[in-house]
Amino acid sequence: MVDSKAWNWNIVKGDHERHWQEPAMESYYLVSRWLTQGKKDFLDLGCGLGRHTIQFAKAGFNTSGFDLSETSIKRTGEYAEQAGVKVALKVGDMLNLPYDDENFDCIYCRNVISHTDTVGVRKIIAELKRVLKNGGECYLTLCSKQSWGFQQDWPVVDENTKIRMMDGPENGVPHFYADYDLIIDLFKDFEIVKIFQVEERIVEEPTASSYHYHVLTRK
Ligand SMILES: C[S@@+](CC[C@H](N)C(=O)[O-])C[C@H]1O[C@@H](n2cnc3c(N)ncnc32)[C@H](O)[C@@H]1O
Repeated sequence: MVDSKAWNWNIVKGDHERHWQEPAMESYYLVSRWLTQGKKDFLDLGCGLGRHTIQFAKAGFNTSGFDLSETSIKRTGEYAEQAGVKVALKVGDMLNLPYDDENFDCIYCRNVISHTDTVGVRKIIAELKRVLKNGGECYLTLCSKQSWGFQQDWPVVDENTKIRMMDGPENGVPHFYADYDLIIDLFKDFEIVKIFQVEERIVEEPTASSYHYHVLTRK
């Protein structure tokens, strides 16, 4: 299995930092959906700078944030304190989650589980199943093979995985790319509630779109 590598959040500053503090669009839907369902115990897996950790804590969830990057967890803690919310934070590798079985009602992992190879993704999905309560839901995104990144001449780990070689916080971080059929196979032990693909167009580089699958699953 490829070595795990955290994002380098130390170089994320200014406008770039502000981008990573603004919740993603679907997060508002998830807050509403999971509150309506009476869900309480929430995990933000690969929480980055904690934009969703803080959002869910403010909405009243018992919130845990988890990331491989010590900087990420330190900064999430500082932002949570500024926001006046209590959150439980841990540094660690998603390949071995330090949580009990059936610990969470709902898990959000936005642009996180793709940061390993094919063997690693299967292991993480087994970990998600282990820590979710029965009837619990997980919303996650996966890089799509339609993405510009998958066409790049970067070091290949396996048929689905490359190591991103480009200046920025993701330099040297593994990227796993999926297609629809692979996702159906990966989540065969879950009920798939929704699956769709989203294109994010970089305005300055119209040929360099990144595509992600969004997957909502239930245990
Ligand atoms: C694209 S960022 C997403 C952050 C956050 N989910 C958000 O939407 O703001 C990916 C995050 O996954 C973390 N990460 C990468 N590999 C990881 C691993 N093996 N275990 C835990 N976190 C990991 C990175 O350090 C980074 O903070």
